[in-house]
Amino acid sequence: MEWKGSSVMAVALIAILGSANSLLAQAPDATLATEALSPPTRALLVQEMQALAEAMGRVHRAMVMGEHRTVATEAKGIHESFVLAQELSETQRQEIQTALPPAFLSADQAFHELSAKLVDAAIQEDVRLERLWFDEMTRACLGCHQTFAAKRFLGLAGASDRKQGAESG
Ligand code: HEC
Repeated sequence: MEWKGSSVMAVALIAILGSANSLLAQAPDATLATEALSPPTRALLVQEMQALAEAMGRVHRAMVMGEHRTVATEAKGIHESFVLAQELSETQRQEIQTALPPAFLSADQAFHELSAKLVDAAIQEDVRLERLWFDEMTRACLGCHQTFAAKRFLGLAGASDRKQGAESG
């Protein structure tokens, strides 16, 4: 490509075209794992996600006020929720097991182990550990969305793990 170094317009144009190109380039690669689910099962998962986000907000609020018992209760609720929620029928449970990639299920599993650690930290009334596990849980939300829902969360598409780790570490 030929352009004069002094031409601000050319530089600006190239920058605009360049960013448009990279956005277009990301779209076909971006995944949404839950598209493989039937609409009712996917709706249930989305509903669980919304409940999860609200519970995280309540945990955060209780944590910064030293309300350990609330942190423990909310974290326990999180631990018992989501994909393994009781509302799932046996058929839906099987659908989730087969339609979603194994890595999704392990990410869910890993997330739930973190919520159990948060329960323990809250029982011990250890503010430092509560914050640590809350951070790790947030990192797990981001990680799963980035890998399995980047088609919906365009702001996460193309973000590297390293970048994400650097933010919270
Ligand atoms: C194991 C993977 C996984 C983990 C862990 C995870 N999510 Fe999600 N989340 C998803 C997927 C996939 C979607 C997109 C669902 C869809 O649109 O079908 C989603 C969607 C959402 C949504 C949008 C719901 C809507 O209204 O459509 C919110 C909010 C959300 N997640 C919050 C969270 C929070 C907060 C955490 C962590 C505390 C979290 N998620 C952890 C996979 C995950």
